[in-house]
Order: sequence, then C-alpha cells, then structure tokens
Amino acid sequence: MLAKAPRVGFNTWNNFGEDISDQVIRETADKMVELGLRDAGYEYLVIDDCWSKRERDPVTGKIVPDETKFPNGMKAVSDYVHSKGLKFGMYSCDGVMTCARYPASFDHEFLDAQTFAEYGVDFLKYDNCYRPRTVDQALLYRRMSAALKASGREILFSACNWGDVEVETWARSAGIHMYRSTGDINDSFESFKNIALSQINRDPVIDWTRPVDELHETLRADGGSCSNAPGCFNDIDMLTVGMFGKGNVANKGCDATDYKTQFALWCFMGAPLMLGADLRNFLKPSFKPMLDLVTNKGLIALDQDEECRPAFRATNQPWGKGPLVLGRLLSGGDIAVGFFNLGENDSRMYLYFETLGIPDAAGINLEMTDVMTGEDFGVKREFVDIVVPKHDCRVFRCKPVSR
Ligand code: GLA
Repeated sequence: MLAKAPRVGFNTWNNFGEDISDQVIRETADKMVELGLRDAGYEYLVIDDCWSKRERDPVTGKIVPDETKFPNGMKAVSDYVHSKGLKFGMYSCDGVMTCARYPASFDHEFLDAQTFAEYGVDFLKYDNCYRPRTVDQALLYRRMSAALKASGREILFSACNWGDVEVETWARSAGIHMYRSTGDINDSFESFKNIALSQINRDPVIDWTRPVDELHETLRADGGSCSNAPGCFNDIDMLTVGMFGKGNVANKGCDATDYKTQFALWCFMGAPLMLGADLRNFLKPSFKPMLDLVTNKGLIALDQDEECRPAFRATNQPWGKGPLVLGRLLSGGDIAVGFFNLGENDSRMYLYFETLGIPDAAGINLEMTDVMTGEDFGVKREFVDIVVPKHDCRVFRCKPVSR
C-alpha cells in the first residue's frame, strides 16, 4: 500500500522556486544521504514547478524538460535520485498552465502520466491553477489518479488544491494519497501559526463566556485532518525549518525556537514532512540544531504513529491569545499532549485530563515523558500545568496508569 504513514522528504519549491537544475537535485540527493536524512525516513526528493519548457513538443504533445536546467534529461536525474536509495517526485497541475505558467496537464492527463512513468517518477504533486472554472475539481483529480494508475508505475498522488471545495471530504474517493488543506506557507512565525490554527478554525464559533462544563462539547480540533488515515493524509504544506529568511518563500524568517514549534506542530498533527530549506547548508555547525530537530526520533515517531489519528484540541484555555493544547490518541494506548505557546508572552498552560477522556474519578494517572528529550516528566494526577516561553512548545507522550 502506498502512504501507510504520512510521507516524508524534500521539495524544491520553498527554497529554490524556479532556480532548479540537474545539479541542485543531485546535490540535494547527496545531502539527504550524507546528513542521515534518508536513514531518518526522508524518502522522496520532489521537483516542484518550473522544470519544463514553456511549450509542449509540437509533434509528440509531451511536456519537455527545460534543457538549460536539465541538460541530461529527466530520466538521468531520476536514475541518480534512485541510485541514492531515494524516491523521485515531480509536479504538474490540473489546469491549462501550472501556477508559474508552464504547461500543465488539463486534457493531457494520460499522456503526462505516461511521461512521468517513463522518467521513473514515484510521486506526483498536482496543483490547481488555471483550471477551467466550469470543470469539477474532484473529477480532474480522479482523472489524473486514473491516469497514474494506468501508467503501469506505482506513483503516489499528492493533491494541492489548498483545501478548496472541502477536499478532505472527497480526497480518499479520488485516489489521492495526500491533500493540501492550506494556502502557501512562507518563512515566518505568523504563516505557520495561521496554518496550524486553520486546522482548528473550522470549529463552531466558541463562546468563552459559557461555563467550562458546557464548552466541552465544542472542543473539536480535527478540522481538515479528519480524513487523516493510512492511505491518505492531510498535507499542511512544506516545512520552512532552517530557511532563516532566505529562499523562494522568504519572509521575516524564524528563529530556532519558532522552527522547533513548527516541526513539532507538523509532527503532532501527523502531517507529511517535506523539508524545504537548502540542505547544502545543513552540514555547517550553526545548522546542527536544525538537523537534530528534523531527525528527532521522538517527534518523527509521533508523526508516523501507525494509527495515524488526527489531533484534537484539549484545553478550555482560549487559544486565540496564544496557548494551544492538543491531544492525540496513539497506537498502543498512549496519549500525546502538546503545549504550543503561539502567543507573544511566556504563558502558564494547563491541561485537565478530563478533556482527554480521563476524569479524575476514573482513578487513572498519566506517566509523562518529554517526546523531544526522552526525559521523564513524572506521574501526574488530574491535571498538569507548565510554563512555556513565547513561541515555544513542549510535547509529551503519556501512559495511562491506574492509581
Ligand atoms: C502553488 C502551490 C505551491 C507551489 C507553487 C508552484 O502556489 O501551492 O506549493 O507548488 O504553486 O508554482
């Protein structure tokens, strides 16, 4: 089965944009191996938009790689990526042009899928720009899905329609393996904060003046991730971890604490982890904390938890001001809890286990372990409170134990 767990890899868009080339892909593949990323699970190397010439071949009708960027053709690039023990991904779009105005696959789906199969592609990101407005999106995604299946090669289908027309309700039936539920990320704290909260904002409007007991029924946080399950995952966009304000989606940039929170949020939500920073920097000693972060075993295990359940919001504390507490049921009976301080002040955050489904009367305590450091945080009864500095987070794995 493709996509038993959320997919993990690298995508060119966030850092390189249109400045992609044979050399960039080969060097990135080398770095994925040298830095231990491949062995940590980063499996796919994906070329995003801007890889082709501006026109299709007039005779064959095929999309043609830009030979100034890819002088050896695409099969050679794909072979190189495969020789490193990685999988190779490419990009197209359901419209007449890609988002950066290169030829796209509308009405050429079967020909293009065949072309991707000839290149040895294992993953196709499929965007949603310049689509004829009268055509149903789900139908176009179903069509490319069928074309990929007919290509004779196993190709993971990654849909990128930014959460439009409630994609989470039809992604699975359209044969999609991961569906983008958000607009484009940029390299700033506000951007990834808004993406994380957008997964929760689909909740009914909550009236915080109501008594706490009455609020419980409104504590849902599954938003766009509600279809997260083996075979099809909610994609909240490529990571900007380690970009530090440089690259194609540069904005204000983030600091190391912000990136820690970004990566922890993506892992907590069980999202695909597609790195976007220039990995050629990651051997520098100053990037060691970033490399340690994206290879953190505890966080990756949380991301890849085999039951792939979505997270839920687990606090009555008004998160609009910053504190966001999430819970997530894991395989084997553990429960993950995450304290994310998305506000601008250090904050005391608290969690009543009641909101995890464990009232005090059940006679159950939680044995808490810090997911990132492996440190024992002790056995807690009924609730836990913790001070989290601004923009920072703490993530725990909790084992329910009888008193
Ligand atoms: C859209 C997608 C991005 C990226 C660009 C490429 O904006 O959402 O992730 O693929 O197109 O043009």
